[in-house]
Amino acid sequence: MRHMHHLAVAALATLAATFAHGQGAPDPAQAAVTARQAHMQLYQFNLGLLGGMAQGAIDYDADAATAAAANLAALASLEQGRYWFEGSAAGEVEGSRASPDLWANMDDLMTRTAAMETAALAMADAAGTGIDALRGAMGDLGGACSACHQSYLLRN
Ligand code: HEC
Repeated sequence: MRHMHHLAVAALATLAATFAHGQGAPDPAQAAVTARQAHMQLYQFNLGLLGGMAQGAIDYDADAATAAAANLAALASLEQGRYWFEGSAAGEVEGSRASPDLWANMDDLMTRTAAMETAALAMADAAGTGIDALRGAMGDLGGACSACHQSYLLRN
């Protein structure tokens, strides 16, 4: 019994150490990259459904389209300032493709973030009302993604 108890305590201590290492004090630049890339993946996941419907690759479904558009609008409305931690550009944090130019153009980045939110809100109004309305809102929304990417996402 005593032996088993020791084993359990050791296992718990290992778990706690792992948890503390993973969650306790992450490198803030790495944490910012992870968070913003996760945010972008959620954009992609939701936009992908709307884009698939717009192109006819996925059958139009008003409820699913409404949900994806609402997710995009909610995501776009999140406060994102901390994502752009100084020192977290491509070349500074492994795996980042954020252009170093971004940090000299923070006002522009915020303008583009706001434009994305406006386009997502328009999509949220349109997506559930029919495929033509969804298609009509797609240009501005997709355009808001690619405009920012053209300026600040490095292709490699
Ligand atoms: C305000 C600027 C901006 C907007 C708007 C924006 N992105 Fe991004 N996106 C970026 C930047 C910068 C990166 C690179 C982040 C990094 O690697 O550090 C990125 C990266 C990505 C990635 C790669 C994520 C990864 O795991 O490496 C995807 C996917 C993506 N964006 C999708 C989208 C979609 C879809 C939209 C529109 C619904 C969008 N983005 C809107 C700036 C933006």
